[in-house]
Amino acid sequence: MTTHLTSLWDFDQQQLQAFIDRARQLKDEAKQGIHHKSLTGKTIGLIFEKPSTRTRVSFEAAMYGMGGQVIYLPGRDTQLSRHEPLKDMARVMSRYVNGLVVRTFGQNIVDELAAYASIPVINALTDLHHPCQILSDIMTVIEKKGAVSDLHITWVGDGNNMANSWIHAAARLGFRLTLACPAGYEPNADILAEARKAALQPITLLRDPAQAVAGADVINVDVWASMGQEDEAEARMRVFQSYQVNNELLSAAAPDAIVLHCLPAHRGEEITEEVLEGPQCVAFDQAENKLHIHKSILETLIK
Ligand code: CP
Ligand code: NVA
Repeated sequence: MTTHLTSLWDFDQQQLQAFIDRARQLKDEAKQGIHHKSLTGKTIGLIFEKPSTRTRVSFEAAMYGMGGQVIYLPGRDTQLSRHEPLKDMARVMSRYVNGLVVRTFGQNIVDELAAYASIPVINALTDLHHPCQILSDIMTVIEKKGAVSDLHITWVGDGNNMANSWIHAAARLGFRLTLACPAGYEPNADILAEARKAALQPITLLRDPAQAVAGADVINVDVWASMGQEDEAEARMRVFQSYQVNNELLSAAAPDAIVLHCLPAHRGEEITEEVLEGPQCVAFDQAENKLHIHKSILETLIK
């Protein structure tokens, strides 16, 4: 049976942990010069309808590093831009390549491709989720802190795709998650409700960032306007002013707290230069770990 990665909800605790454990092993081995060519002869298509630096390059480097090949397909250069049905695209691509990595707007696009494809479809970011990123982020937290289940992890800012995937992760992996989001910018209500039903620890939604991060082990921050929300950027700048992760907010967290930012960052907006470049920020380790997590995902799913 074909296994897709459309959201973290597709997997149980053991499977998510296995992606991370394998990525850590691949990272250790790569540092020793050991490289597995387990995807020799395999090809994946990358359909990207939004820009990307890290996700595109790390998926491509992961695939080439394991002996495989990549075809990069900007959405506008495919017949999708002329409304070819997704169900046709999915079945045609299944005859050419061994997997699809998709970055797009609606989650329905990834879900429909997965419904019709006979090859794995991997979500590389939609408006609703960014599952592969959260796996790299949790890998980074585990590297820095040990197991995640005992930690208090927080989210400060927009209840966006990243926040939704963190909510899934909290329910599946069993850590305490507190989110601080302004009114009108909460995470997806259905995702929150479903995750809370399954969660072993509280998933709490607050307004006040200082209250949310009090004593926390991890602070997560992301841009105030995501890709596709460029028209709202100015209005959002006003709404999110008090949600900036700066030294004052950081001082409310545990003294050894770490700060996560998936990048790209807007210095002086959601995070200050000082915090981003400071010793508690692990953004560049997160970025590196995308390479190892993507290797682990591809190795597991591509047949
Ligand atoms: N973090 C992340 O997904 O970065 P890119 O948009 O550069 O891929
Ligand atoms: N929330 C951001 C994440 C970028 C990696 C966006 O969707 O633009």
